[in-house]
Amino acid sequence: MLGDQRVSTGVPNLDNLIGGGFKQESVNLVAGKTGSGKSVFAMQFLLDGLRKGEACIFISFEERKKKIYEDFAGFGWDLERYERTGMLKFLENTPEQIRRVVADGGGSLEVIATQMGVKRIVIDCMSSFALLFHEDSNRRGAALALFEIMNRWGCTALLTSNIKNGKIDFDDQVDGIIQLHHVRTKGSHERALEVVKMRGTQIPEKIMKMDIDKKGIVLSPSKFVSL
Ligand SMILES: Nc1ncnc2c1ncn2[C@@H]1O[C@H](COP(=O)(O)OP(=O)(O)OP(=O)(O)O)[C@@H](O)[C@H]1O
Ligand SMILES: [Mg+2]
Repeated sequence: MLGDQRVSTGVPNLDNLIGGGFKQESVNLVAGKTGSGKSVFAMQFLLDGLRKGEACIFISFEERKKKIYEDFAGFGWDLERYERTGMLKFLENTPEQIRRVVADGGGSLEVIATQMGVKRIVIDCMSSFALLFHEDSNRRGAALALFEIMNRWGCTALLTSNIKNGKIDFDDQVDGIIQLHHVRTKGSHERALEVVKMRGTQIPEKIMKMDIDKKGIVLSPSKFVSL
């Protein structure tokens, strides 16, 4: 049972629209098409924790640490420093390795997570994990087991998910979903953020304008985008 302690999303102006942030120890998705800002959002969430002295894990299935660190240095985020102090663990895992962690009931990842006292965890991107399973029931079962393991560690999780054909993987298994949009409007592109669901929380009805500027994701809560 989730309490009502909240964990900041790290996105300015978003927390007060969703009851203070993600529920502590909840599992959430940030979903969107390619280039919509999922990885930026996920790292911004961890960075908020790191700045508050919370231990964080970023599991990347697709992108290399070096590239991500270089890209995000453009936002002024010194991720290497947090790694040096032991507060951030960046793991270049394969989905298969995470499947084994689940099969082992926590495995080597549990040792790392409990040793560092992890408070926030990101998996980027869960759609690659979903591809390991052909059967719906196996995929659901593995996700449930993974979420239970992360829950046991007492951390708040943010998982990214690609949207293909309008479908968000694991959508009914998570506590919260934030969808990022990057749409073409009259010859230019516009970014927008939509809170799709947040269990036990009143959520904004409107799809809000969002930008990725030199400090990361910023939300304009009173500007709306019609899709
Ligand atoms: N350092 C930066 N400075 C400014 N904008 C950036 C920076 N890094 C990324 N962006 C912008 O953010 C956009 C989205 O990046 P992000 O990698 O988070 O998307 P994504 O949804 O994770 O995509 P994918 O599904 O391909 O992984 C980039 O296309 C770029 O426009
Ligand atoms: Mg990404």
